[in-house]
Amino acid sequence: MALIFPKWTNEIPRVAAPVLTLLSGVVVFVVWFWFSPKHTDVGYAPVQPIPYSHALHAGRGMVKLTDGTMSSALGLDCRYCHNNVEKSASAGVPPTQTCMNCHKQVKLGSLLLAPLYKSWGDGKPENDGGGVPWKRIHKVADYAYFPHAAHVAIKKEGAAIGCATCHGRVDQMVVVAQQQPLSMSWCLDCHNNPAAFLRPIDQLTNMSWTTDPAWDAKAKDIATRLNPPGNKNAATVMPDGQVIVRATAGCSGCHR
Ligand code: HEC
Ligand code: HEC
Ligand code: HEC
Ligand code: HEC
Ligand code: HEC
Repeated sequence: MALIFPKWTNEIPRVAAPVLTLLSGVVVFVVWFWFSPKHTDVGYAPVQPIPYSHALHAGRGMVKLTDGTMSSALGLDCRYCHNNVEKSASAGVPPTQTCMNCHKQVKLGSLLLAPLYKSWGDGKPENDGGGVPWKRIHKVADYAYFPHAAHVAIKKEGAAIGCATCHGRVDQMVVVAQQQPLSMSWCLDCHNNPAAFLRPIDQLTNMSWTTDPAWDAKAKDIATRLNPPGNKNAATVMPDGQVIVRATAGCSGCHR
């Protein structure tokens, strides 16, 4: 009887299976890579609906405007707009009202500000689909918990971690770009040894603050009383060598 399929076709499944597995692996990777949010990327700097410039509003000195003219920066404190940062977990982006404090008069009718005036006209509150649709830049995964207040207001010690430590020189950014990876190892690198990242609490938003030997000594002392979750010192080594990590001090401090 004549062979309908030549003998070598028997080999096809054996060869095809691994090739297909490999190919689907590549497809899964490409899809995952392409469609996963770029939130964890250092340098992530999405184009915002309004070309709002931190350099102009929160910086100092002379800055160039979009039309090429120079203007003196306004030097607003970070907390003028991110006013929840010392009280709550999230720093928050300001509502339309905050911008309107000035832009009811300043640059009224500017095309650059069209989305602002539209949201003002719509009159919908931010928590009800209103406001300017700002694109979120910094974002840790939902299963990890990052509370701003605990970092920027360590009140009992008169210490803080400055905005610039985690976000860089935002006061010089025309477009905000992420500076740190926000990965678990980034968190733990500091939690294991926070002394070098502390500053006096009244220097929280000073973007050009630098330390001195007197503060360095004080910060080392303060750090001995802090106990951030996951830090090596939170583990107690028992006489028999067993390592016990207190529940609240371990993984569940950040994964709640
Ligand atoms: C006049 C209001 C205003 C002031 C003052 C201000 N910001 Fe902002 N900030 C905004 C707005 C609006 C956004 C969202 C648009 C953008 O990303 O540029 C934002 C975004 C940010 C983001 C990124 C948020 C995200 O989605 O991850 C950071 C970080 C930030 N600001 C830090 C600062 C720091 C630090 C200062 C002080 C040096 C400061 N801001 C001063 C209005 C302000
Ligand atoms: C304290 C007052 C004040 C607040 C609050 C304020 N602005 Fe401004 N903004 C100004 C001034 C002043 C200028 C114009 C500078 C000039 O033209 O010389 C300006 C200019 C701008 C420009 C035009 C920049 C350019 O390059 O031409 C944009 C866009 C803008 N602001 C957006 C915002 C947004 C969005 C908010 C709210 C998050 C905001 N501003 C809050 C005072 C303010
Ligand atoms: C110890 C590091 C650290 C410090 C200090 C810090 N941030 Fe953040 N910031 C983060 C992380 C991490 C996120 C992402 C949080 C998330 O996704 O839950 C973030 C997010 C933000 C956002 C985005 C929106 C939101 O509601 O959280 C803004 C705005 C912001 N920070 C502003 C500030 C300002 C202003 C300061 C100083 C007063 C500051 N941050 C200090 C680490 C820090
Ligand atoms: C630059 C240093 C630094 C970085 C970066 C940092 N932390 Fe912290 N964190 C601290 C310090 C210091 C404390 C302890 C504050 C205290 O004891 O009052 C702390 C405390 C905490 C707490 C406990 C808050 C409480 O209420 O007791 C949590 C949760 C936390 N950090 C989560 C994170 C996460 C998640 C990240 C990364 C996305 C992170 N931290 C990055 C320094 C840092
Ligand atoms: C200081 C806060 C903190 C502590 C403590 C912590 N984690 Fe995480 N963890 C994070 C953050 C932040 C991420 C990354 C979130 C992201 O990528 O957006 C993460 C990610 C993870 C992931 C996801 C996989 C990965 O590598 O991205 C696993 C699994 C995990 N953590 C397990 C643990 C375990 C187990 C412990 C206790 C030994 C622990 N974590 C302690 C903050 C923490």
